[in-house]
Amino acid sequence: MEGVFISQHPLVQHKLTLLRNRHTLSTQFRQIVRELAILLCYEATADLLISSVTVETPLGQAAGAEVQEAIGLVPILRAGLGMVDGIWEMLPSAEVWHIGLYRDEKTLRPIEYYNKLPVNPTVQVCLVLDPMLATGGSAVATVKLLKRWGANRIKFVGLIAAPEGVRALHTAHPDVPIHLAAVDDRLNENGFIVPGLGDAGDRQFGTA
Ligand code: PRP
Repeated sequence: MEGVFISQHPLVQHKLTLLRNRHTLSTQFRQIVRELAILLCYEATADLLISSVTVETPLGQAAGAEVQEAIGLVPILRAGLGMVDGIWEMLPSAEVWHIGLYRDEKTLRPIEYYNKLPVNPTVQVCLVLDPMLATGGSAVATVKLLKRWGANRIKFVGLIAAPEGVRALHTAHPDVPIHLAAVDDRLNENGFIVPGLGDAGDRQFGTA
């Protein structure tokens, strides 16, 4: 599917396997989410605009580059939080805008509970962060919010998706590239990705 990028990087696939393991404890789980977020962000930001600059080295002048675009990290609470810190280290001047959504257990529809976006957009590129793309409802709603805000370049960075979620996000927002570590088999009757990794929020925060 155009605009859907599944990382083939050996480190991503190795770490994802550790993450899926039911015996991986919270401390290690958090560390791996952080590392995977960095690796996927590296791939997702490969087309950032840069401008040419010159830099003085101790031995002379060298041609260099500077990232031109202001970047916003948009974690979807709560599970997206674990993807922020590692990426922020790579992009220290990024702004972080939290969006709070939870899924209604019965309808699986996203319910918004936190959004402090200012009136006007302050960034040019938004990276929406959420480890899980299940039905896609949360990601679709978040991208809609960001578009309404005025963001014009939006990318989704997640770890595992169900085919249903990829289709929903791609159909609703075909202009939004989707970066993932894996697309799994299906959703189960409770809206969980199978085989997936369980509940990414609970496993990160030790609330299972
Ligand atoms: C999970 C997950 C995503 C969402 C994905 O969050 O972290 O945000 O569900 O599902 P969707 O694609 O069907 O919308 P959850 O609602 O469990 O909240 P939490 O992160 O606070 O645990």
